[in-house]
Formats: sequence, C-alpha cells, structure tokens
Amino acid sequence: MAFARFASTSATAAAKKLVVKHVTVVGGGQMGAGIAQVAASTGHTVILVDQSDEILNKSKKGIEDSLKKVAKKRFADKPEAGAEFIEKTLKNIGTSTDPVSVVHSTDLVVEAIVENLSAKHDLFKTLDKFAPEHTIFASNTSSLPITDIANATTRQDRFGGLHFFNPVPVMKLVEVVKTPMTSEKTFESLVDFTKALGKNPVACKDTPGFIVNRLLVPYLMEAVRLFERGDATKEDIDIAMKLGAGYPMGPFELLDYVGLDTSKYIIDGWQSLDPDNPLFAPSPLLNKLVEEKKLGKKTGEGFYKHK
Ligand code: 3HC
Repeated sequence: MAFARFASTSATAAAKKLVVKHVTVVGGGQMGAGIAQVAASTGHTVILVDQSDEILNKSKKGIEDSLKKVAKKRFADKPEAGAEFIEKTLKNIGTSTDPVSVVHSTDLVVEAIVENLSAKHDLFKTLDKFAPEHTIFASNTSSLPITDIANATTRQDRFGGLHFFNPVPVMKLVEVVKTPMTSEKTFESLVDFTKALGKNPVACKDTPGFIVNRLLVPYLMEAVRLFERGDATKEDIDIAMKLGAGYPMGPFELLDYVGLDTSKYIIDGWQSLDPDNPLFAPSPLLNKLVEEKKLGKKTGEGFYKHK
C-alpha cells in the first residue's frame, strides 16, 4: 500500500510541468537579444551567450534601446517607474561567452544562433552533457526541422521549438513546436513559459515554416518576383500592401527588416526539400543582394538604403 502511494506521488511529480525561472539564451543577434529582454522583463533570470564580449555589448545596447521604447509606452506618465523597470530588467540579464559554464543552473536553453545545422548540433550536443536532467532545450530556428536539431541530444523528449517574431518585444506570437518526440510535459511547460512572457502561443507540428513563415515567406518571394518581372516598382508594391491589405510594412520593407539572408536560408532549405514547388523557387535578385552582403537594415542596405 505504502509502495502504491509512493508510486502515485512520484508519477504526479513526473507529470508536473516545469516552471521556468532561469533561462539561457544562446545567440545575441536581433532574435536572441529580444528573447532575453522579454524573459528578463517578465522576472526570469537570463544569461545571454555569444562568442565575444563585443557582440554581447552590442546586444545589451540593443536591449537598452528597446527597453526605453517599451518603458516610454508602458509608463508614459510615470518616468520613474519606467526607469525602475529598465534597471530591474537589465539586472536580470547576465552575459557569458561560454555556454557550458552557465547551463548547470538553467531550466530552459533557447538557441538563436546561425541557421546552420552542424553549428546547432555542436552546441546542443555539448550542452546536453552539462545541463541538468530537467532542463528543456528549444530552438528558435525558422528554417531547420526541430527534429533534426534535437537528434544531436539524448533529450529529444525535452526538446521543442520556440519560434519568436521580430521585433520580439512587440510581436505577441510564439509558435510552440512539438516534434513526434517532444513530451506532453515539455510542450505544456513551453506553452506556460510563453504565457509567462506575456505572449500568445500557438501549437504547431514540426513542418517547414510552421504556420507564419509557411504563409509569409512565399508571399515575400512573390513580391520579389513581381518586382523582378518589372510589373511594379518595389515602392509601389510596398504602398499597395500597406494601403490595400492593411499590412504594417510592405514586403520589401519587411524583407529588409527581417534580413535578406534569413529569407534566403528559409527558401533555399525548402527548395532542397521540394525542388519542383514553384513557390520555393530561388530569386536571382535576392541571391545577388545576399552575395553583395546587402542584407537589409542590419547592414545598412538591402532592397532599400537605411540610415
Ligand atoms: N522594441 C520595443 N518597442 C518597439 C520596437 C522594439 N524593437 N520596435 C518598435 N517598437 C514600438 C515603438 O516604440 C512604437 O511604440 P508606440 O506605439 O508607443 O509609438 C511601436 O512599436 C510602433 O513602432 P514605430 O512607430 O517605430 O513603427 P511602426 O508603427 O512601423 O511599427 C513594427 C514597427 C512594430 C515593426 C511594425 O512595422 C510591424 O509590425 N511590422 C511587421 C513586423 C512583422 O511582420 N514581423 C514578423 C516578421 S517574420 C519573423 O520575424 C519570423 C522570422 O522567422 C523570419
């Protein structure tokens, strides 16, 4: 009897969802910095990891600038409360150039590094050895299958996708991606984490593009093809979609905002999976701009020039 009671208690404990308090975000680019910011501003302790202090200083500067915008809006009439919010959030963010030395006390690792499967494999394979048993791993990839990334680890049941949108502090959605190996407990813990960030989660299977990019990227590519054919100027296409469809940005503005390299990675990946699908056809113009390192806002030029 006593044994039965013990067994049922431990089964309940095993089914209990993980409440994420400590987060490690690997990758200090636009997405990683945004994720770190939102997690820190909602009371989580965060360690942001990247390869050098120089990159991390740039990430922290970006976070500070973004926090000022958030504070201005949220505490419009209370500048002191706004300053306190910024200070408190920044205090919750530590930085490191060595993920191995920080994962020992983390509940969740969110990876937002370069879209390269072998780089992600190397990272997760290593972290798998040093992170505690309970730690959940998540990738913010927009172009690679979560299952392929999870396969580098021995914790496929504690591995899922958390796909955020740019700018992370503003966009309310997170796609929570469940692979066939992701446990229900992990999935629910990730859903709860996104809610704790003040975001709206949606559930998706591990399919190319999940929901948003599967619809958005073909639309962006169609806009580039329209322009390549000379059917309309990029300026008019942008105006048309803003004024005719109510989109906050036109497709070329959005491509520059997200980064042309990111869109190219996504479309190239899909094309390799389904070469005959015309929606996934490469664009010579997009390829040329990426080759010239005209990646959009982050490099000062993409389809448009940026100050
Ligand atoms: N941090 C915090 N606040 C920010 C911010 C940031 N990085 N960027 C903008 N804001 C705030 C501004 O302070 C402003 O606040 P206010 O309402 O108090 O004035 C508000 O957001 C609006 O900003 P702006 O006035 O500067 O400019 P816009 O009105 O044009 O809004 C935008 C900017 C929110 C980016 C809007 O243009 C937009 O929603 N664009 C579409 C973005 C989008 O589609 N993102 C998804 C891309 S796909 C993706 O990320 C997936 C990936 O896998 C490719």
